[in-house]
Amino acid sequence: MSPFSEISFTPNEFSSLAKIDKSIVSTLEQFDLIHTHRKKVGNVDRKLISLEEIQRYFRILREFDEAEGPSSVAAATGDAAQLSTGAGAVSAGPGISISHLLRAIGAPENIATSGSIATATAYAAPRPKLKKQMFYNVKGGTGKSTLTAQFVMMAAIQGHRVLALDLDGQGHLTVNLDILDAHERPTIYDVLINDLPIQEAVMNVAPGLDLIPANLGLCNIEIPLNSKTRREYRLSEALDKIADQYDLIVADTNPAASILNGSMLYAADRVNVICATNPLSFHGMSLVMATIEEMQREFKRQLDVKIVPNMYDAREVISQEVLGELRSQFSEFCAKSVVTRSADLNEATKRRTTVWDVNSRGAGAMDIANLTDELTNG
Ligand SMILES: Nc1ncnc2c1ncn2[C@@H]1O[C@H](COP(=O)(O)OP(=O)(O)OP(=O)(O)O)[C@@H](O)[C@H]1O
Ligand SMILES: [Mg+2]
Repeated sequence: MSPFSEISFTPNEFSSLAKIDKSIVSTLEQFDLIHTHRKKVGNVDRKLISLEEIQRYFRILREFDEAEGPSSVAAATGDAAQLSTGAGAVSAGPGISISHLLRAIGAPENIATSGSIATATAYAAPRPKLKKQMFYNVKGGTGKSTLTAQFVMMAAIQGHRVLALDLDGQGHLTVNLDILDAHERPTIYDVLINDLPIQEAVMNVAPGLDLIPANLGLCNIEIPLNSKTRREYRLSEALDKIADQYDLIVADTNPAASILNGSMLYAADRVNVICATNPLSFHGMSLVMATIEEMQREFKRQLDVKIVPNMYDAREVISQEVLGELRSQFSEFCAKSVVTRSADLNEATKRRTTVWDVNSRGAGAMDIANLTDELTNG
């Protein structure tokens, strides 16, 4: 078991994350698009790809994609959707032509057009459209902290520059990201109440992943925040000071209709409402949606809303019913992605790492990859 910052991937895991056929990995390696290293695991000498290498790969593709514009995008034509990457395949989003990419970096024509490379596409993990996102529900225990942690780690794997923001005094996002000394660190409390410059509350967790942690002291923020002038705007103004440094800023919130959560609703571009697929969680949805609507009216601002069904179990009738109800009552807001109940996600929480490190071929890893693609692409 290694911390997220030291995680590495096998070529098969990489091909799954990159949404390419594994036969193409060696060509990418040959042309310096991906680097591998060797590490002894037990008695076996394994070929591995580090977190920084995978990030470098995605950044190269993204820059290529952005420079080339729509001509490099194969997904629009449906090519990417037909990609088959074996058992670990995740659904393909926008992709770039590998042949096109190889030509651009000077690969000989016979290689750029050989075999499966000629028609292959790779997922470029486009820059997130909505930068400031929050995971929210006034109901407790729906999976906010779990999904926030998994989302920010997956987005970091894809080479995005990510800031995770823990707005819950329970500090579960902080712990999920393997930070265990948060009681000694500044939190958003110090920024909003004691005017600490926000940069000083930011810590680095892993390459490409920063965090503003939380500790129990944050539970006491409501009274002092209530008496501050421009209380709901302070968080937004603070985040704006560092927003340029990141592609994504993602907050985990506390399970309450608190001023702190209200401040994040004002700051966010998107609220991801995490709804467990059980009757009580569904029952609370009307209140959550009403709170969001009221906030939009009060602040006169439009907020993108996505409802993410979590802990879905296809074997349970009640789970199916709640998912059906969510999709019919909130059809315009419901995410396409559904996160199933999986022991791997629980294990990832226990191990304080990404579910990809627990079981890269399991449903939990696929669900998190699909959710990350959906939340970054739209
Ligand atoms: N899809 C899932 N499959 C299995 N276990 C899950 C899943 N999502 C969350 N869990 C587990 O459910 C528990 C509660 O999750 P979590 O702490 O993320 O909820 P929360 O909404 O943040 O709670 P709170 O409101 O207290 O902040 C955790 O033990 C977590 O591992
Ligand atoms: Mg939580």
